Amino acid sequence: MALRCAVFASGGGSNFKALLDRKQSGDLHAEFVLLIGNNSAAGVFQHARKQNIPSIHLAPSHFDSELAYVEKLMGLLRDYQVELIVLAGYMKMIPSAVVAAYHNRIINIHPGLLPAFGGPGMYGLRVHQAVLDYGAKITGVTIHFVDEHYDHGPVILQQVVPVLDTDTVNTLADRVLKAEHGNYWRVIEAIAQGKLRIEGRRVFGNV
Ligand code: GRF
Repeated sequence: MALRCAVFASGGGSNFKALLDRKQSGDLHAEFVLLIGNNSAAGVFQHARKQNIPSIHLAPSHFDSELAYVEKLMGLLRDYQVELIVLAGYMKMIPSAVVAAYHNRIINIHPGLLPAFGGPGMYGLRVHQAVLDYGAKITGVTIHFVDEHYDHGPVILQQVVPVLDTDTVNTLADRVLKAEHGNYWRVIEAIAQGKLRIEGRRVFGNV
């Protein structure tokens, strides 16, 4: 049975689209059973609609308490029998109760080489601007399990992307995003195939 994934996203959803394309081409053996987005205007919802994937607009601000939010979220994950949560440009913290319930079953993609250029406030173009401002010669992509700290869980895959002398924040962002699209599906496939082994912070297995 294919791994049942829920994608959480807040933006345009190019990563989600890239995953759907890999599934379509037969490279990725996962089922995208649910999309959760906190911003109803986000482009990512269109990708779900096109493929008849159930999508739900859900934000912490819709609830009176964290507990009510967590109950709703956990209920959905149960109803859709979600095995893996895939964060793809999701701008909200995952409540710690959900992180605990899905221990090492939530993954995130970050457009930089963690632990550099990560943490609260480091998202989108800010990451690439910080890389350029620092004068770093390499940047890249980090795909990691999610724990209760921001951009912190065990690293599954890192891909280096060189910073070119000619780069602007936009050219760098484009190149890193391409590397994201080329790698996120590989990690999900490796998880689906049961290829990863986790010992503390170290993740072993070929992706
Ligand atoms: C990506 O750069 C991802 O690394 C970050 O948010 C961005 C999402 O882009 N977490 P998209 O919505 O998938 O196009």
